[in-house]
Amino acid sequence: MAADQEQNITAEMLAIDNLGPAKITSPLLGFTAMGPDEAASWESFTEDDSRVLLDVRAKALSECIAEGRAPDSFEEAGARRSIYFDPSKVRAAILTAGGLCPGLNDVIRALVMTLHYRYGVRNISGVKYGYQGLSPEFGHELVPLDVRAVSQIHEFGGTVLGSSRGAMTPADMVDSLERLNINILFCIGGDGTLKGAHGIALEAKARGLKLAVVGVPKTIDNDIGMVARSFGFETAVAIASDVIRSAHTEALGAPHGVGLVKLMGRDSGFIAATAALARGDANYVLIPEIDFDLEGPGGLLAHLEKRLDSRGHAVIVVAEGAGQKLFQDQGRDKDASGNILHKDIGAYLSHAVNGYFKSRKKELNLKYIDPSYIIRSAPANASDQVYCSFLGQKAVHAAMAGKTDLLISMWNDHFVHVPIALATMRRKKIDPNGVLWSSVMEGTGQPVLSNNNRIV
Ligand code: F6P
Repeated sequence: MAADQEQNITAEMLAIDNLGPAKITSPLLGFTAMGPDEAASWESFTEDDSRVLLDVRAKALSECIAEGRAPDSFEEAGARRSIYFDPSKVRAAILTAGGLCPGLNDVIRALVMTLHYRYGVRNISGVKYGYQGLSPEFGHELVPLDVRAVSQIHEFGGTVLGSSRGAMTPADMVDSLERLNINILFCIGGDGTLKGAHGIALEAKARGLKLAVVGVPKTIDNDIGMVARSFGFETAVAIASDVIRSAHTEALGAPHGVGLVKLMGRDSGFIAATAALARGDANYVLIPEIDFDLEGPGGLLAHLEKRLDSRGHAVIVVAEGAGQKLFQDQGRDKDASGNILHKDIGAYLSHAVNGYFKSRKKELNLKYIDPSYIIRSAPANASDQVYCSFLGQKAVHAAMAGKTDLLISMWNDHFVHVPIALATMRRKKIDPNGVLWSSVMEGTGQPVLSNNNRIV
């Protein structure tokens, strides 16, 4: 387990809620060319007691054995031999909420295809504009979804269902779900969406409603706890690294050329750090997790001046949440999801660097590139598409088995069920002492940008 994910986890926090005993034989048993006996032992079925270790390090395991306690583990995701819902009675709904991310349509497609082809579910709907679609006050109708409706949607970025930020009150949303007779709800979204899904699951439980709520974690920032990799992240890194290459080309093409690239990353700098690592061209990578000084002998401006004097060009990659201390009125406004709206660090740095070189009477050719929404709205690349298919399939298997209040995650190369409450306890961040950040420092040769600096 990554050090930045460590928290005091108990077996209770890892337990997955079930709507009731799964008594119906899965239609997947008749799906293969095998006879029922062979199919019953088909390895693609996952037992409910199959678990995946949180920490795969041998030392951690030995410690557990020595202390006589069971190691922490997640329930493994996958098709169950027995399911809870009768497919002919299922009314499934899918919603996407929060910011866009490559792969949303691929997940929608995978959900519909698996429900339809593997379980024979025919009543599937799309909820328009996230949680707004569960509030009568907005008047959005459900969209019927079938194989034909979703067959080509993976060709496009964005979400065919539309998205919005902010949740409604759980009681109102569950009223709507009851009225619509929905018994399975898939929520594709980030931290805010998943908290909304958890609220719906709790409200449904309090009412004794048999509603399965299954999340598919989405965030281009890759910052959801207990999720090793979010879908869309690889696509984002691939496009961002192309942008860094362009910034480098621009920087090389002019005397004292600087390419400044701003990338998404509200509170976690995973896209910036990983894309910079992919392309060795960045000289400075600024992320929310690592403080930096701008002014002073150890600050970015002085280092940049030295670099331009000696090498003639430089590339700066900045994540949107970096350097917020530079703004006097930081952190006042929030978006509808409750996230602090950050000030524009890219524009600020562009202005500051230009001003500094002007005051030093030195030439500067700075090109500022902000590809944020171009990246976020792109269709998923092949690797993310495959990943989205798996996530959608596993989400359907979990829901049909009557599991609820969970999300599908990839952990130690296995798909697992994570309780939503656990995943949303803490956002994932880059560990300043971890391997990703030290690789960035090594790969870019970036100095410690601090006036209390040990290394210059
Ligand atoms: O979904 C995460 C994210 O892409 C962040 O990186 C970014 O800060 C935010 O969403 C911006 O979203 P919007 O402009 O849609 O509110």
